[in-house]
Amino acid sequence: MELPAYYNDLKKAWQKSVALMCEGVGSNSHGMHTVTIATEANDKPDLRTVVLRSFDELTKTLTFHTDSRSHKVSHIVMNPNVAVLAYSYDEKIQLRMHGQAIVHHQDALTRERFDGVTPSARRCYLSSDAPGTTLDDPTVALAEIFQTDSYDKNDTECAYEHFAVVEVKLTSLDWLYLHHQGHRRARFEFDGETTKQQWLVP
Ligand SMILES: Cc1cc2nc3c(=O)[nH]c(=O)nc-3n(C[C@H](O)[C@H](O)[C@H](O)COP(=O)(O)O)c2cc1C
Repeated sequence: MELPAYYNDLKKAWQKSVALMCEGVGSNSHGMHTVTIATEANDKPDLRTVVLRSFDELTKTLTFHTDSRSHKVSHIVMNPNVAVLAYSYDEKIQLRMHGQAIVHHQDALTRERFDGVTPSARRCYLSSDAPGTTLDDPTVALAEIFQTDSYDKNDTECAYEHFAVVEVKLTSLDWLYLHHQGHRRARFEFDGETTKQQWLVP
């Protein structure tokens, strides 16, 4: 079987990582449509799945959308150092990233993104209490109208109050490619315009 171009080429390994993340943003059936975000709070790590909403190769920045009242947001406010994990089963490529997170709330970026969120998806930011609040009974914690089909975009404008965009500026990316002839692993470190790249023992 022919080896992929990135097997022995660091630049191509980086380009493949960028391509995978961009494909993940664009397709909800892609392995990197969702990524795992790790935060830290009170000396304890925490992880959760989020949908990858953008990746910018130039600034090495990814974004995801969330509820401004969620635990992950308070974790990031306390400690902006996060880790991000992505895996493509089809390509056998794992990306382990570190970065600094910034929470956007009620600014130009959140306005632009919110305008593109469907009425149905806006319901994620409309729970009466913060995500993670304890309940006596199982419920979706949404007003009656949002549990029907009879609401429109205008009805969901109030979701903007809790809508947040988290931007993660990557500081490093650990790339692992699994192959029966021998795995490949590389580290990319980003500092402003500079990228340091290095092969590693897999
Ligand atoms: C497939 C999938 C996609 C998800 N996408 C998001 C997302 O884009 N944003 C988000 O805040 N939560 C998303 N969630 C829910 C989170 O994993 C998590 O349960 C929730 O945000 C609460 O996390 P927290 O308590 O750490 O803030 C998703 C869950 C799954 C299973």
